[in-house]
Amino acid sequence: MRTLEPTVDYTGIDIAEPAIDLARQTYQEARFEVADGVTIPFDDGAFDLVHCTSVLVIEPRYQEVWEEMYRVSSRFVLADMRLLKDIESQGGLQDSHYRIQFDAQDQEGIVPYVVSDADEVVNCLLNLVPRPRALRGTGYFHEVSKMAGTRYSQVCMSILLVEKGNLETTRTELDLNDLPLEFSAFPG
Ligand SMILES: C[S@@+](CC[C@H](N)C(=O)[O-])C[C@H]1O[C@@H](n2cnc3c(N)ncnc32)[C@H](O)[C@@H]1O
Repeated sequence: MRTLEPTVDYTGIDIAEPAIDLARQTYQEARFEVADGVTIPFDDGAFDLVHCTSVLVIEPRYQEVWEEMYRVSSRFVLADMRLLKDIESQGGLQDSHYRIQFDAQDQEGIVPYVVSDADEVVNCLLNLVPRPRALRGTGYFHEVSKMAGTRYSQVCMSILLVEKGNLETTRTELDLNDLPLEFSAFPG
């Protein structure tokens, strides 16, 4: 964060205590808390930008996490997700997982390999309260890693940016043209 903007103040959370211990040692200028993304322990509008990276690809409770990130943001929320069209009609992806090999350790772990339904995600984001001022997205299809246990061969890696609205916001600007997915019609 400070590489891009030396004056930025930032706070990080992770559900895993070892991750927070490591972050505290490595980035002593910032504040880090052990917390679950579905119950973020900060006030409404506490941050200009909430940035969530590489979490919603292993955490299936994306709706709750987005609601909390939106609540504690006063302006923007940025997060990456794996998206596909019509997942439910294809039987869902509940049993997908990903094997992780840890560096310098002869160990491996298994985490969920989460792919979310593109239309459901967009609907979820458009229904955030208060209504978002804008929803923007970009992304690309890539080959699924051989370490992922999933029936899909390609998924759309997506970056989604939501600009927070207020109680007067009646329209959401949609800018999803850089995502290689065809979305169903959504209200403007
Ligand atoms: C692939 S790592 C990414 C870590 C970091 N965000 C980064 O980009 O370097 C995924 C992290 O998500 C954390 N995580 C998973 N579910 C979470 C949740 N519900 N709330 C907070 N952190 C979560 C895991 O503990 C893990 O450290």
